[in-house]
Parts: sequence; structure tokens; C-alpha cells
Amino acid sequence: MTGKPIDVAVLMGSPSDWETMQHTSTMLDSMGVAHECRAISAHRQPGQLHAFITDAEARGTKIFIGAAGGAAHLPGVIASLTQRPVLGVPMLGWATEGLDALLSIAQMPAGVPVGALAIGKAGAKNAAILAAQILAISQPAVAAKVKAFRAAQAEAVTLLPSKS
Ligand code: RP5
Repeated sequence: MTGKPIDVAVLMGSPSDWETMQHTSTMLDSMGVAHECRAISAHRQPGQLHAFITDAEARGTKIFIGAAGGAAHLPGVIASLTQRPVLGVPMLGWATEGLDALLSIAQMPAGVPVGALAIGKAGAKNAAILAAQILAISQPAVAAKVKAFRAAQAEAVTLLPSKS
């Protein structure tokens, strides 16, 4: 093993994805979820990706989040290398506003699932919240954070100025 124990590993295909995926990390922090964020490219660094997943599993990782743009094969490749749940976040990309990545991630052939989230920032945040909700099944401290988040979110809606 090469690092500290973590519950969630957040992988992205490029450092250029961090601008979006920092929202995943911030949300996981707010939920009290131990995690690590790494940029490892499935097509540029396949060996490093395999090694990281093996090491992350040894450190207790329960959920992998994979973010990628364009052909967006990273989440599917992660899923091929682990039996832990994989959540995929399509990046906005440069040619089809993230639709390419969304379809790549959502259209995994039957047998190796990836849970596809929304394109961009919403997906980045929701991947963290969904991961926290999964962990909350067995971690009461995380469950309390999720509950508080939901309550604050509901309160924020009621604070919106009403039209008269
Ligand atoms: C994907 O290609 C990455 O996930 C990123 O979204 C996109 C562009 O990568 P860079 O060319 O910026 O490294 O693999």
C-alpha cells in the first residue's frame, strides 16, 4: 500500500477535469468522506491505472468515481478492474458539450455496470452525494451529514424570494 485508508477514490482522465471535479472533492469533504483525487488517464497510463486501483482497494476504497470527457472510457475501464461500485461523471468536453461522454459512460454493455451521472458540475456534485448515501448505509456519521445536507437544501429553497 502507498497511502492512507480511503472510502472513495476520485479518478479523472486529465488534470483539465479538475476544475469540474473539485466540486466532488469539496462535497465529499463536507460529508466527512475520506477520499483521494487523482488524474490518471486510461489510454495514456493504463499500467498506472491498474496499479492505483489495486492499491486503492487494499486501502479500503468502497466506491470509485471516474470522470472523463470525449470518448470517456475511464469509468468503464475502472469498472473492468474492480467489483466495487463505479460512478461515472461525463465532462463537458470540447465537441458535443458532453453528450459524447454521457453516452460513452451510460452505454456500458451489459455485465460491467457504471452508474452515469449528469454532465459537468451537477454530476460532479451528485457523484459525491450518491457515494455518501451509499456509505451512509453502514456509516452513521455520514448518514447524519447527508441528512443535514438535505435539510439545509430544503431550507434554501424556502428562502428564495417569492413573487407577488
Ligand atoms: C479525457 O480527455 C479527459 O478526461 C479530458 O476530459 C479530455 C481532455 O483531456 P486533455 O487533452 O485536457 O488532457 O481523456
